[in-house]
Amino acid sequence: MSGLAAAALLGTSGAVNAQSGELVLYCAADEGICRLLSETFQRETGINVLMTRKSSGETYAQLKAEEGQPRGDVWWGGTGDPHLQAAQEGLTSVYESPMLDQLQDWAVRQAETADYRTVGVYAGALGFGYNTDLIDPASENAPKCWADLLDEAYRDEIQVANPNSSGTSYTMLATLVQLMGEDEAFAYLAALDDNIAQYTSSGSAPIRAAGTGETTIGIVFMHDAVTQAVSGSPIQVVAPCEGTGYEVGSMSLIEGGPNPENARLFYDWVLTPEAQELGAQANSFQVPSNMNAATPEESPNLEDILLIDYDFALYGSSDERSRLLSRWDQEIGSR
Ligand code: F6P
Repeated sequence: MSGLAAAALLGTSGAVNAQSGELVLYCAADEGICRLLSETFQRETGINVLMTRKSSGETYAQLKAEEGQPRGDVWWGGTGDPHLQAAQEGLTSVYESPMLDQLQDWAVRQAETADYRTVGVYAGALGFGYNTDLIDPASENAPKCWADLLDEAYRDEIQVANPNSSGTSYTMLATLVQLMGEDEAFAYLAALDDNIAQYTSSGSAPIRAAGTGETTIGIVFMHDAVTQAVSGSPIQVVAPCEGTGYEVGSMSLIEGGPNPENARLFYDWVLTPEAQELGAQANSFQVPSNMNAATPEESPNLEDILLIDYDFALYGSSDERSRLLSRWDQEIGSR
């Protein structure tokens, strides 16, 4: 049964009525999965999907800039924190999908935290990856921990994204604050800054750079490091020994968007197992949120990783996210 048929059977918005018109999709995951979802939905429904891809923080900023004159219908993907901030600021709308009862607890909790203005679509743990032509994984000095990244041997040899644009990098900031305490986390980030060659705009760019040898280490979600390894790049994936944070990648309906009916149709469809399993085809190895969707065998197993009890309500709140980002700008970004 196709995802669309599943959605229709579930009695979600009329598959027949909605088979025309447009859907404006803001996609904050990797280009490959953004395109595959758009093309598949368009093929199955006849609805013309106008998709733009941006990073998570950039998409939040776009919603904020378009407040009052929204142009987008659905924001799919990207880390959960900026979705929660958008929810709190009323930029996204309440919707309780009939698919909710098929979702993992962590995905439903995300919806509950936002009073159903968002929902979890996938999960993945933060970590880093390094180029095995440049660091021998068998060597005693191969990095295994957050602390190892401060080694002066890696001066200008690490890339990570800017947390203002990138949800990956904001997840790192919030993770370190939760792991170490806030002042210690900022001291760590200041020391790490000596080793950072470049703060990229997109969260996964650093591991693509490590894959080509342009840099040695990329701090990214572990599934993005797996994507490079699976594509044949010499990348070793690391779950930091001290423990790490994770994302609940999310989806939200944009408040006042131009095509609300098509938006709900996409929302229900993209939560089906069939749609979620498209991730593997696009080399996207997050854990899907639908309990009936197969997790790709390449996906890092979250149960084997030492995960912190990430406080999504706090770090996705408007005040806390804005405050931490401005502290980062003052203490790290302006160094
Ligand atoms: O698509 C890969 C991915 O890492 C997602 O898992 C994540 O939600 C998103 O990209 C984060 O991208 P960025 O850091 O650029 O906001």
